[in-house]
Amino acid sequence: MTEVREKSPLTVVGIGADGWSGLSAQAREAVLRADVVVGAPRQLAYLPAGVKAEPWPSPLLPALDDFLAGRSGVCVLASGDPLLSGIGTTLIQRGHDVEVLPALSSVTLARARLGWSAEETEVVTVVGRAIGRVNRALAPGRKILVLGANAEDLLDLLKARRYEKSRVTALSDLGGPEERIGPGTLTVFAIDADGPALPLTGLPDDAFEHDGQLTKRDLRASALARLAPSPGELLWDVGAGAGSVGIEWSRVHPLNRAIALERSPERVARITRNAHALGVPELDVVIGAAPDALEGLTRPHAIFIGGGLTVPGVLDACLATGARIVAHGVTLESEQALARAYTEHGGELIRVGVEQAAPLGGFTGWTPARAVTQWSMP
Ligand SMILES: C[S@@+](CC[C@H](N)C(=O)[O-])C[C@H]1O[C@@H](n2cnc3c(N)ncnc32)[C@H](O)[C@@H]1O
Repeated sequence: MTEVREKSPLTVVGIGADGWSGLSAQAREAVLRADVVVGAPRQLAYLPAGVKAEPWPSPLLPALDDFLAGRSGVCVLASGDPLLSGIGTTLIQRGHDVEVLPALSSVTLARARLGWSAEETEVVTVVGRAIGRVNRALAPGRKILVLGANAEDLLDLLKARRYEKSRVTALSDLGGPEERIGPGTLTVFAIDADGPALPLTGLPDDAFEHDGQLTKRDLRASALARLAPSPGELLWDVGAGAGSVGIEWSRVHPLNRAIALERSPERVARITRNAHALGVPELDVVIGAAPDALEGLTRPHAIFIGGGLTVPGVLDACLATGARIVAHGVTLESEQALARAYTEHGGELIRVGVEQAAPLGGFTGWTPARAVTQWSMP
């Protein structure tokens, strides 16, 4: 059973654009009984006279823990739902014991204005993050709420993905006296998406910018099936080439993380572009050569080895992590390494040859791709 948070020395009260008048009796009491109330000056301005208020230090994050150290009876103001891209999340992540009293979030209010249900709406926050995250959510007919974006960047992004026909609504200062349709101080963008479909995984090869060093779709699908991503897991994509495996892994779920290791600077730049265009700009792209560059990386749940298999120490370094492994080889040397791994460690060894129908004279014939040997270890 999950432990439910109860009363704690630190209370986080969500406050909406309707200010003090919108707070529940419980939230008002938390504010009034606090020794000190901290928040952004805009939020503190809502408080009645007599409340001891202190603005956050600026910049906040580096000073946050010291600011709170040793204090008790602190009430923190947050906007709307403190656990939606808010200070509540930050405090919990930093180990503070908090009691959260939420107000209606901008997301809830935006959905109410639009008549969009929670179930059908995808929320993408780009607060302190790259706008490229929106790309992952784009699909025909999808309803998307974007937090923290600016209008120009968002419209440029939709155009670049051929989603310019989407209906975009800006909802500003939701819940307050200044609420309106159109850009404002605090704006949520609602996208009724209209553009070309792109699957989350099994992407066509031409969805990636590449120089030929790409794990092609059928082999990529086979590798991902065995890498078996679960939400929140971390992948190392070793010898990442164009980044396709790490990118698809990351697209499976917004909590998935991947580190793409690639020794070629030109390809590193390409992986970064692909990650942005395909909606996973947080892909961690590391330049360097395995095995040395693997040292110190966060321990992964799964590893794909698309390059560097014959370099001494690479396979051993990957095996030492205890992660699930999928490795591809196309040369006799890499095949030998995979056969050895299979003999020593078991797992599954397969050889995949893909042939595609293509014009042949006036007829149609099979065009074979180079066969790939795949070793996987669950
Ligand atoms: C066949 S490509 C991988 C394709 C990739 N899975 C994709 O779909 O885009 C192999 C890559 O491994 C890189 N590579 C080879 N040895 C490496 C090593 N020891 N460390 C890092 N990268 C390496 C090469 O530069 C090349 O880009």
